[in-house]
Amino acid sequence: MLRRPRRNRASKAIRAMNQETRVGVNDLIYPLFVMPGTGPKEAISTLPDVYRHSEAGILDEIAEAMDLGIQAVMLFPAVPESKKDPQASYSYDPDCFYLTVAEKIKNQFPELCLISDVAMDPYSSEGHDGIVADGKILNDESLEILSKMALAQANAGFDLIGPSDMMDGRVEHIRHTLDAHSHTSVGIMSYTAKYASAFYGPFRDALDSTPKWGDKKTYQMNPANRREALIEGQLDMQEGADYIMIKPALHYLDIIRDLRNNFHIPIVSYHVSGEYSMLMAAAAQGYVDLNQALPETLTALKRAGSDLIITYFAKRYAKNHVSN
Ligand code: PBG
Repeated sequence: MLRRPRRNRASKAIRAMNQETRVGVNDLIYPLFVMPGTGPKEAISTLPDVYRHSEAGILDEIAEAMDLGIQAVMLFPAVPESKKDPQASYSYDPDCFYLTVAEKIKNQFPELCLISDVAMDPYSSEGHDGIVADGKILNDESLEILSKMALAQANAGFDLIGPSDMMDGRVEHIRHTLDAHSHTSVGIMSYTAKYASAFYGPFRDALDSTPKWGDKKTYQMNPANRREALIEGQLDMQEGADYIMIKPALHYLDIIRDLRNNFHIPIVSYHVSGEYSMLMAAAAQGYVDLNQALPETLTALKRAGSDLIITYFAKRYAKNHVSN
């Protein structure tokens, strides 16, 4: 035998020399939930070890993450039911706690990359990402609101705007709005291929944002579709997205690879709440060893073509696994 692949696996040093993919702390984006007030953090029963942080507590959580080298955070608001309405108007109210806390975060940590979420669902009494009329989600009417929300977030100091609503044309609409208000340097991280997935359940528990009726299948993508992700990618490229996201991640490795091969802006995968909780549950039962399963999972996402990974495991990985 002239060629023996095992030679390149012979020792730890040789294996490290032959390793093709590495996940560093700069590849990670840490998603965080913030609620109004200054009370203690709240546990989320379906999302173990993840919390809703108060406006005061979130600053400590971010400081801790930054001490571990994490430099990008994605922020989601847990909005009290009393603030929700059909127009999601609280989302662009200048007194909205999500906006004021973002301002505080950026004042305290100017070097942090703070990423927003643009969608109506956390603020909507219907629990949908767009405006509802006669049981339908209106596309073009929703764009106005999404753009107002994005502008309010840019004004508050978010570095990147993250439209997760899946309305057609929203990236372009938001880009024009930001540019018209001199926010040319605020970027857009678009949820490009966001599938109508069963794995968002724990996230919806965290924000109490489960749709009040129906599902999200008229705007989020069918998990069966691969070519359609390329159409979404093409549109987001044309519309001015700075980052392309695939969500969920682990069941969609082929989509990550397709988008990586076809587009030359950063590719982001979102290892979502259900994927996180599944691993946590298996680890708690002793079915898998998280210390091995976690680096393997994130490495697989990187190998498939992700430049960046949004993960609730960010702190844990930064603490226990980053070696380079
Ligand atoms: C809101 C939004 C969702 C997630 C991110 N932004 C939920 C949904 O679309 O219902 C899910 C993230 C996760 O599950 O971790 N539009």
